[in-house]
Amino acid sequence: MENLEQMKRTHMCTEVNKTLVGNSVTVMGWVHKRRNLGQLIFLSLRDRTGLLQVVINQEKQSNEILEKCKEIRSEYVIAVTGKVINRTEKNINPEMETGDIEIDAEEIRILSASELTPFSVLDTGVKDDLRLKYRYIDLRRLEMQNNIMIRHKVSNFFRNFLTKEGFIDIETPMLTRSTPEGARDYLVPSREYSGSFFALPQSPQIFKQLLMISGFDKYYQIVKCFRDEDLRSDRQPEFTQVDIEMSFVDRNDIIKLMESLISQLFKEILNVEIATPFIQMPYSEAMERYGSDKPDTRFGLELANITDIVSNFDFEPYKSAIKNGGRVGGINAKNCGSYTRKKIDSLIELSKYHKAKGLSYIVVEENNNKTSLSKFLNDEQINSIVKSLNGEAGDLLLICADSDNIVFEALGNIRLEIAKNENLIDENKFNFLWVIDFPLFEVVEDKLTSSHHPFTMPLAEDLHLLDNDIEKVRSDSYDIVLNGFEIGGGSIRIHDTKLQEKIFTLLSLSKEETDEKFGFLIDALKYGTPPHGGIAFGLDRIIMLIVKSTSIRDVIAFPKVKDTSCPLTNAPADVREEQIVELGIKIEKLKV
Ligand code: AMO
Repeated sequence: MENLEQMKRTHMCTEVNKTLVGNSVTVMGWVHKRRNLGQLIFLSLRDRTGLLQVVINQEKQSNEILEKCKEIRSEYVIAVTGKVINRTEKNINPEMETGDIEIDAEEIRILSASELTPFSVLDTGVKDDLRLKYRYIDLRRLEMQNNIMIRHKVSNFFRNFLTKEGFIDIETPMLTRSTPEGARDYLVPSREYSGSFFALPQSPQIFKQLLMISGFDKYYQIVKCFRDEDLRSDRQPEFTQVDIEMSFVDRNDIIKLMESLISQLFKEILNVEIATPFIQMPYSEAMERYGSDKPDTRFGLELANITDIVSNFDFEPYKSAIKNGGRVGGINAKNCGSYTRKKIDSLIELSKYHKAKGLSYIVVEENNNKTSLSKFLNDEQINSIVKSLNGEAGDLLLICADSDNIVFEALGNIRLEIAKNENLIDENKFNFLWVIDFPLFEVVEDKLTSSHHPFTMPLAEDLHLLDNDIEKVRSDSYDIVLNGFEIGGGSIRIHDTKLQEKIFTLLSLSKEETDEKFGFLIDALKYGTPPHGGIAFGLDRIIMLIVKSTSIRDVIAFPKVKDTSCPLTNAPADVREEQIVELGIKIEKLKV
């Protein structure tokens, strides 16, 4: 192998352009492709900026260069010095940034050879597991290089914007106590305190509130958070938040500043204009209309509540849903009346996957509707449903009766599925909105829990409901939603000790438990706490949507796979027996 002695890189690949024609340049990178066209050999050289063509004319070249060219294969690392020349008319490639010029090689050095790579950098159909096992090769692909560089630009934008606005970047601990964001913790055993554990932070929530109490006023941090939960295409066990907190502000101050941040970010990175202010939609409206607290508003297909229309029908599923406080909801899939039985069945399956007991359908026709309800309802009743859903000939109506939450979830997901099937989604749109006024509490497995986290301020006008109608209390919170993804969320916090203690009591935390888990926060609140609130953006999700990827993994250099493992390093892994002994831990492997 050769070295760099007396050779310095002068340009990155795509910095070489027409203005340099006639000059000598030195470029370095990986061999992307090699083509041998008889008298001419072409090497396509790649660095993180893109591609540049090197041409070797066999007639004029020294034997030394020709011998090297025979040896060079894809992914070799080479250095090339040569003259920038115009390409001949027929060789101009308008698809390529450097497509009008090439380098006439004068010196080539092989800096490092490469074995045949497990997959070609040019191959776009490689299985995910293989891509992640050899992530360093996968990251060489221009698409991935672009994603990672956009990531850099986005985080840089956040830093610059927030610094200009007077925010201070402060780091918070990674080895801490459990933070209440609702997921399972990643635990780290302590050697000094055998049997005790640190938890990796699910978010810096408590620390950023403490920083407000310390007077830092405007805090931000681009920070890793850890949540041991099931992975999805937009979820990773370790992910990055842009975490923000401010003092002496109300909800609208925060919302306004964040709208300005987002619109400038999209202008800078994608050169798109995002109109502000964004719509602020109460949670209850989002659920009623879209069946989701993160509605994709790029298309209509809204849900309808037809409970009143069917309330006196003698049909057991409707009667029991209504009796149990639930509802009958429907959706009009416009012009989908031609769906095959198989396609309708797959929608029924989808509703069952989302826990619905079933889904009925009506295919609206000019004279005679086709429906799974014909055995149970008479024509007049069916027509009244058709009318309430504005059904017209050619439409497919889907109806679900269950608890509110199940109807929302089932029809909300059917809505998304139909939009995908029917190509209703304009991929060039960026639809932002705020979902506000979430319920402060929710009941999970018969237990009252915080919908967000227990430090969220109840809406002032709902405070009186804390004592008698607790499930109706709304919170002073806000999620920011883009194209059906929650890209951030936050709230105004409780800054009053008494109210904070009351919330813990309502959550059935005993005084001892509260003291044990959050005593330090309750204490801190007593010593002069400014009114404060904040937000955290999911950085990975924002970048995923900016680069129009369908997987969060495509914007993280070294992500985890579905079972939360890392195919590259094979983490998690066994550790040495001595390490376990030192920690005072005994391991009993569980079957999963
Ligand atoms: P929240 O839990 O809503 O709020 O998280 C904020 C944002 O982080 C992103 N996010 C995730 N991204 C990828 N993988 C995950 N597993 C994951 N979990 C969350 C989402 C989400 O909107 N402390 C509060 C914020 C606050 O109140 O200021 C918090 O963490 O985009």
